[in-house]
Amino acid sequence: MAMFGLGWYMADLPKDAPKAMSFDLFDLGIYNWQLSEEASPRTFYFNLHKSIGVTLLALIAFRIFWRLTHRPPALLDSLTAAEKKIATAGHHTLYLMMVLVPVSGVLMTLYSKFGLKWFGMDVFAGLDNPVMRDTFKEAHELLGVVMITVIGLHVLGAIKHKVINKDGELVVVQPKQRGKRQKGPYEYGALRNYFVPIIKDMKAGDACEIPFDKFDKERLRGAISGWSVHHWGKGSNITTINNDRKCVEILRVT
Ligand code: HEM
Repeated sequence: MAMFGLGWYMADLPKDAPKAMSFDLFDLGIYNWQLSEEASPRTFYFNLHKSIGVTLLALIAFRIFWRLTHRPPALLDSLTAAEKKIATAGHHTLYLMMVLVPVSGVLMTLYSKFGLKWFGMDVFAGLDNPVMRDTFKEAHELLGVVMITVIGLHVLGAIKHKVINKDGELVVVQPKQRGKRQKGPYEYGALRNYFVPIIKDMKAGDACEIPFDKFDKERLRGAISGWSVHHWGKGSNITTINNDRKCVEILRVT
């Protein structure tokens, strides 16, 4: 989001402003940036945007490598087939935009007359081809609009799961839960999918016991440790493993 802010901020900077060697970042009086040669604010902020953007591109490449080598948590079983398709399409579009937005920026820079400097270090010179530069400039702006729209929809979807569905979607993506999931072969997502149909008709204050023989106790330990509060379906459920009674206890509290 900072890159969008920076992009929009710098695009309106005047081309003929006086040059300086020191920049108060965004005129906030918080951080001063010193340069080895004089530059106009426009040059300074363009170079900053390009340097951070190229760095992000490298981080995004690593993220994609990570995604390809690690499986994400399963989508909720409570989603309809259409909802699953929309969610998956949204995620793929986000990944695509994470690549296309910075790549179009790099190509625009390649065809500009300025070339690319990474935090002051020369990376490549510009080819000075205005037609190609303008094409990738248009692409960069357009793809940016697509990206921010999909990010907005993604956030709205997450809020809907938290506030309206209350189905624990945001619990599955928390690093702590994912760590547990990796230790035990029982996936947190699979566990929740198993419990939701059992507990969905429970009312506030109801308790329910699920015998161990339904599933492997040791594998459950990977997903439930001690007393844990979950928001599976409506209301919150306290879930614990009861060794004496050889069952999983679920207590609906709201
Ligand atoms: C990482 C993600 C990036 C995002 C989200 C992003 C976003 C933006 C946005 C919102 C603008 C303003 C567009 C407008 O005028 O409406 C912009 C402009 C620009 N971006 Fe990026 N950018 C990214 C990466 C890059 C990279 C890697 C480069 C080049 C190495 C780059 C080069 C530029 C340039 C040169 C402009 C100014 C275009 C002009 O007004 O002439 N951007 N960017």
